[in-house]
Amino acid sequence: MKIEGMSAVVTGAGSGLGAATAAALARAGAKVALLDLKVDAADAVARTCGGAAFQCDVADPASVADALAAVGERHGAARIVVHCAAISIGRVPLVGGDPVARLAAFARQVRINLDGALNVLSLAADAMRRLAPLDDGERGVVVNTASIAAFEGQAGSAAYSASKGGIAALTLPAARELSALGIRVNAIAPGIFDTPMMAGLPDYVRALYLADSVFPKRFGAPAEFAELALAIVANRMLNGEVIRLDGALRLPAAADFLTRAGVLAAPAFND
Ligand SMILES: NC(=O)c1ccc[n+]([C@@H]2O[C@H](COP(=O)([O-])OP(=O)(O)OC[C@H]3O[C@@H](n4cnc5c(N)ncnc54)[C@H](O)[C@@H]3O)[C@@H](O)[C@H]2O)c1
Repeated sequence: MKIEGMSAVVTGAGSGLGAATAAALARAGAKVALLDLKVDAADAVARTCGGAAFQCDVADPASVADALAAVGERHGAARIVVHCAAISIGRVPLVGGDPVARLAAFARQVRINLDGALNVLSLAADAMRRLAPLDDGERGVVVNTASIAAFEGQAGSAAYSASKGGIAALTLPAARELSALGIRVNAIAPGIFDTPMMAGLPDYVRALYLADSVFPKRFGAPAEFAELALAIVANRMLNGEVIRLDGALRLPAAADFLTRAGVLAAPAFND
């Protein structure tokens, strides 16, 4: 899909990968709506790159519906959606501790990351289906954000990995189901990117990830994620695919180095 002049929504646009994607879409001439729970952060990004900020909790269907309606009034219904909003609540140990607290932590992680993706996908698609078809009958494109943790989640990350695995797994069935409407669905599975989400990692963990990196031997830059998101939007043959963007990094099981570093003895629920 041509990007120039299109209405585009980026969730999680107040920070990290979403902020870089919003800026790249704005540079490419899209009318960008920056959605975030922290509307002040989204607004600050919008001031630097152009576009308009909207408050939105992706885990709340009514909040997503309200934000998309406001976007529709301002820019027209979005044909481009890049969903980046998510959290990482940290370790949720499978054994020991309070089972009720464990399930609550797991449910919160899944509600924000996976239910959030479904809310945005389904409500955005519902607005797209009312738009006129473009070339090839295309009405819109959705890019979700999974993680390489969807495929090789580390010890302690069952909740985050399951939430991202769900996003990977829904990509093909969503693309198949929405094909009748001319809506493509893809996902990017990033490796380790330098964003505020990763800034909290202790130095020794950053060093271990870097040691396992292949090439290039560094963390990804948010602009590189944005570049792939825009390439997916532009290329109509890309559909139903989860694309790793990780410089060939494969996450280690982690139990070894995290145990040695004392992390597996850390408090259980750190959200
Ligand atoms: N940074 C990495 O290394 C990495 C690796 C793999 C996957 N990811 C994924 O990439 C995406 C972006 O991550 P990031 O590193 O830019 O994170 P980030 O923490 O820098 O940004 C996430 C943004 O999402 C927003 N957000 C959180 N909960 C929300 C909600 N309920 N509703 C609306 N907005 C909400 C936050 O306010 C924040 O602005 C996430 O889906 C993350 O899981 C990141």
